[in-house]
Amino acid sequence: MAFREYKVGARLFGVALGGSMVITLYMPIVDMTSVAVTETGLKKQLSYGRIGGFSYEDPWMLGEGKPKTVVLNKDPKTGQPIETVDAYVYEPGIPFPSGIVHPRILGDGITQLSLDKGQIGSASEDAGAVFVIARGTHNGETVTYIENATATRGWQPAEVLSTGGDENTHYIGSGKIMFVKEGCWWCHTLLPEQTQDWQYFGIPPRLGDFNGESPTAFGSDRKAPDLLHVGARNSSKEWMMMHFFNPRLVQPHSIMPRYDYMWGDVDANGNPIDFKAWRAEYDAYAKGKTMYPPDVPEYAKDSQIRYLMDFILSLK
Ligand code: HEC
Repeated sequence: MAFREYKVGARLFGVALGGSMVITLYMPIVDMTSVAVTETGLKKQLSYGRIGGFSYEDPWMLGEGKPKTVVLNKDPKTGQPIETVDAYVYEPGIPFPSGIVHPRILGDGITQLSLDKGQIGSASEDAGAVFVIARGTHNGETVTYIENATATRGWQPAEVLSTGGDENTHYIGSGKIMFVKEGCWWCHTLLPEQTQDWQYFGIPPRLGDFNGESPTAFGSDRKAPDLLHVGARNSSKEWMMMHFFNPRLVQPHSIMPRYDYMWGDVDANGNPIDFKAWRAEYDAYAKGKTMYPPDVPEYAKDSQIRYLMDFILSLK
């Protein structure tokens, strides 16, 4: 039979293709549901919102369609003091993260707690919702799960935002987009390794820290310090501002680029930022003609640099 070899080849090809599709498409599902999400993983999901990279909701990567993280120490309903809690505010229309849309990726037990006690099933994207991280027990162990505070405590997104105020509101999800868009990961990793790294960059992440996160922005080739816990070793907003405006202000030989354009056109008071004049003053300082560098402008509330700073300082 002249074509026998081809038939055998075609079948083997079919088996190989089918097998690789099972591995590529099916195995990750099995794998994901077998890992329970950690508290870090929950914080990331809730503060980043629906996926943290390029998406059709935000094609220009401007940080749109993301939740806000509000540090609350008062109950927004009653005004009574409460133990400080991070409230993840999804205003109406903001897409929910994968853990709420597909609770089973949260892993055994946590899925059940989030659905039964946390009532996440009743949250609606159209109406908006506020989530918090709650503690419960599963198989005798303390675990964290997602609580829909709109259902359990009656907290509405707008109330939480006004109770917290702008100074307690953080744009962590939008900042993650800035990190991806600006390519910080070309030089920085978000992945301390199981080596001497531990001593300086802090503890390596665990598998359950990544449930539902995409992209992870691990980085690949490290040319600069790991940033996974940078907010724990340096939480100075002033230092970060100077460093982002021009890294040479604080690290004279830094190879990190300037990100001054992320300030936008105006400062916190709405006055135009004169980049040329700033540069001229800085050059005079760099040449030793003046004693001090010019001040870095205070950034506007809705500037991209605010988003980025909120993300970087959240990396504890
Ligand atoms: C060309 C490589 C490069 C790029 C791109 C880059 N950085 Fe850096 N970054 C460095 C280097 C080198 C250092 C260490 C020297 C210094 O502090 O400037 C550093 C330091 C830092 C630090 C301080 C780290 C510490 O341990 O205290 C932070 C925070 C930081 N970068 C954030 C960012 C962010 C956010 C972006 C993207 C908007 C970015 N970097 C892009 C090279 C880079």
